[in-house]
Parts: sequence; C-alpha cells; structure tokens
Amino acid sequence: MKFRAIQGEILSQESEAIVLYIGEDDILSHEFIYEANNNLENCLSDMASQGQLTGKKGELTLIHTLGHINPKRLLIVGLGKESDLSLDVIRNASAQFARRLRSIGIQRAHTIVPQANMNQIQPSQIAVAITEGALLGLYNFRKHTGKADADRSKLDEIVFVDKPSDRLETFSESIRIGTINAEATILARDMVNQPANFMTPSIMAQIASDIAKSNTLDLEIFSSSDLSKLKMGGLLGVAKGTLEPPKFIIIKYSGDPDNPSNNIGILGKGITFDTGGISLKSAAGMVEMKGDMAGAAAAIASMQAIGKLRPKINVICMVAATENMPSGSAQKPGDVLTTFSGKTVEVDNTDAEGRLVLADALGYASQLGLNRVIDIATLTGAIITSLGDVYTGGFTNDQEFWSQLMESSVRTGEKFWLMPMHEDYKRQNISDVADIKNSGGRKAGSITAAHFLAEFVEDMKWIHLDIAGTSTSDRLTGYTIKGATGCPTRTIVHLICSLGNDS
Ligand code: BES
Ligand code: MN
Ligand code: ZN
Repeated sequence: MKFRAIQGEILSQESEAIVLYIGEDDILSHEFIYEANNNLENCLSDMASQGQLTGKKGELTLIHTLGHINPKRLLIVGLGKESDLSLDVIRNASAQFARRLRSIGIQRAHTIVPQANMNQIQPSQIAVAITEGALLGLYNFRKHTGKADADRSKLDEIVFVDKPSDRLETFSESIRIGTINAEATILARDMVNQPANFMTPSIMAQIASDIAKSNTLDLEIFSSSDLSKLKMGGLLGVAKGTLEPPKFIIIKYSGDPDNPSNNIGILGKGITFDTGGISLKSAAGMVEMKGDMAGAAAAIASMQAIGKLRPKINVICMVAATENMPSGSAQKPGDVLTTFSGKTVEVDNTDAEGRLVLADALGYASQLGLNRVIDIATLTGAIITSLGDVYTGGFTNDQEFWSQLMESSVRTGEKFWLMPMHEDYKRQNISDVADIKNSGGRKAGSITAAHFLAEFVEDMKWIHLDIAGTSTSDRLTGYTIKGATGCPTRTIVHLICSLGNDS
C-alpha cells in the first residue's frame, strides 16, 4: 500500500471511496461534511439526528452515494471529542478506516488531511500520522501461511487530495517520513513475530548486514572467537548452553563526522529464544520467549529508518544476540562470569540472562566514548506486573535526556513511564562471591535489574527501556496488531532525528 498527494476537490474525485472525518462536537462543521450532506439530500444530518452518526472515536460509517457525488462511497471516520484529539487518535482512526477499506475490497481510496485544533500540531504531522496508522494497521504476519499476503495486496493506494496546491510538497514529505517510520516498525514486528528457528543470532546478523548494505551504513559482526578475545564473558556465559553461534552486531551511521562527540548509542537485548537456561521456565507461555529479541529488533529497525532519514548525528547500534538454552554445556546457577568491563557477576539465576548480555554491550559502549546511550530490552516479567502492556518502563541517570525522550513520545504515541532508582534497592544485588549478582530477588524486579545495568554504564547519559510488556500485544486495537508492536522503534527514530536537528 502506498500514499500519494494530489491537488483537487475531494468530493469530485472519480473514486471507489473517499474518507472524511467528523468529531463529536458539531458534525456538519467538519471539512466537506456540510457540502457532502447537501449533495446527499441531507442523509448525514438525518443520520446524525437519529443517533446513527455520532462522531465517536472509532465510529466508521459507510455511505453509498448512488450517483449524488462522483465518489462511489463515502466513509466517515469519527475522531471523538476535540478536547481528546491527539496524533495517536488520528493514527488509530487511520488504521481502522484502512482496514475497513481493505475488507470491502477497495483498491484506491481518496482522503484529506483533516484540520485539527491541537496544540502546536501541524498539518504535516497529521499527514505523517495518517500514513503511519494505515500502514501499521494493515500489517499482518503471513510468512508461514499458504495464503501469503492474500488480503494485504487489495488496498493499493490512499491519495491525499488537497485544494490549495502549495501544500503538496509538504504532504509528499510527510508521506515519505511516515512510510519510513512504518516500514521500520514493520521490520521490527516481523523480526519479533518470526519463530526462533527463523530468527537465530546468525539470521539477525544477516538482516543487519542487508540493512547496512542497502542504506550505506557500516557493519561489524563479532563471532564467538572475537567475543573470547574481547572477553565478553556475559554474552559468552549465556551462549554456553546453545549450539547457535552468538553474535555481537554493530551498525554505525555517521551523520555528523566532523563532530564525533555528537553521538548516541542504541543497544538491544537479542535473546532469540529464552528458555531460562538451567533455571528453566515452565512450559506455559514459553513460546512467547521467541520475542525476547524485541529490543534488538527495535534497535536494528531504527537504524534502517536513520539510514534513510539521515539526521545530523552519529549513531551506533549494538546488539548482543544469543539463545538462552539448558544443556550439558550451559552455565549453572552460582557460576561466576567476568564481563567485558572486568567486573565479575555471580549467575544467581540463569533466567536473568538479559542483563548479562547487556552488561557486555553497555561496557563496550562506555569504552567507545559515547555520550548518550539507550538500551532496549524485554528485561523483566516484573515490569509487566507494574505497568502492564500500556507503558514501557524507563530508567535513567539523566533527567534532561529523559525529557527529550518524553517529547518524542508525545509525537509518536508510544508511552513511557519513568521508574524510580533509589540506591536503597542496590543492596538486593549484593553477591557474597562476586562484584554483583544477576538477580535481586522478587521485590522490585525491574528496578534491581536496572541497577544491575547501571553498574556497567560509565560516564554516559543513559536510558534503559524495559519493553517486556509493550513489545507484544494480545489484541487488535487501532494500529496495534495482535503480536509484535514494533515498540519503541518510532520513538527512538524521532528522538535521534530531533537530537540531530538540535545540534
Ligand atoms: N525475558 C525475560 C523477561 C520477560 C518475561 C519478557 C515475560 C517478556 C515476558 C527475562 O529474561 C527473565 O526471564 N527475567 C526474569 C528475571 C528473574 C529471574 C530475576 C523474570 O522477570 O522473571
Ligand atoms: Mn530470562
Ligand atoms: Zn529474557
């Protein structure tokens, strides 16, 4: 499905279907609705007075125009109360109308970029949101079903029709940006939805290499022997139990080569399957652990978008990828590892493997002289207990850096909640035999995990995002599909671009 912008009159398009928008407040006051109502012999005002057209959020009303106007069908999308309007309401509405158009077999539809009285929201951003919403809402994962792409191909094009001709370039640029954002999110979703036998560390490295090649990014892959030389004991410890070779994947984008200190690192937890290891998980729900590389997927997918948007900043993406398996060669509870940084870790629980591989990634990032780093990880079940599937849990050592992320999140609709990191929690990580242990017990499990990671962060502004709850969804709502969400790819991309613009 593609978007395009043209100049013209929406109500006179020879179109299979046009899409217009209403709110709950005064239905006929919305753009082209008054005119459409007149042409349709007051059909819309009649429906409104009978309570069949309310403008409520999520309401879709399909009207056959029977030759009264050129477009064959009019689909009216409810946006709810003006006071509740946000880019995310528009993004969700776009997903819903796009799915409806697909389900009734429309190939090409026309719509407008609706005006909205929202604080500091530009029409260009509304066009981005509509583009993202439709592309993400039409997503489905059909890589392993016979009827591959059966209904994905039906809706081919949505065309923005705008009366003045001077906004076409702006909207075309919005379409470009929205498409790049959505395609990166879709890449992350695909990677997370893939079963573990189709998303091994080696396959992930191959995907990173393909992305690097097609977007002129630099790539480095460390294999087992490199990891031994670098003394990445955390990643190697987790990888001891599996026959799949571990990979440490680095993708570099140099958008500001004259200012090497204008940089940011994006790190991802890439556990392609987490059985728990010797501290084995129970069978119920273990299948979900194919998604334990969602942090890596978001990090790699963000680089695809960065490679296309090319902001003025240097970005290094690092992913520590391995399976976590039990076997005769697996690490055992009580084992002591030496991480890249030289710090020793007691492996109290082999199921707390994410922090072991991230310890090496954060240590490596610290040594590169990065100023800012964000790690993304499906790190703890405890964050699901705290925040469910609504908010990603955030942890930071720098309030300003966190505020910058929050500003981006307002634009993208992805939600983040800052968790406390009081140092009183640190005692739970104290080990009798090593510098630190990898499990802090049952209490405040996400916070002790974050404190563990913080031990490996040297002199960098740091944000840790625990996406265990938000990387997948158990239901379809708006542009969020059952399965992988692709979070927080869009926010990471937006943040990097705004940091780049500020410099
Ligand atoms: N990958 C899991 C966390 C997870 C749980 C992600 C549910 C998505 C859904 C992580 O490796 C893990 O097992 N964490 C343990 C840590 C504990 C042993 C200290 C947990 O949360 O139980
Ligand atoms: Mn685990
Ligand atoms: Zn895990």
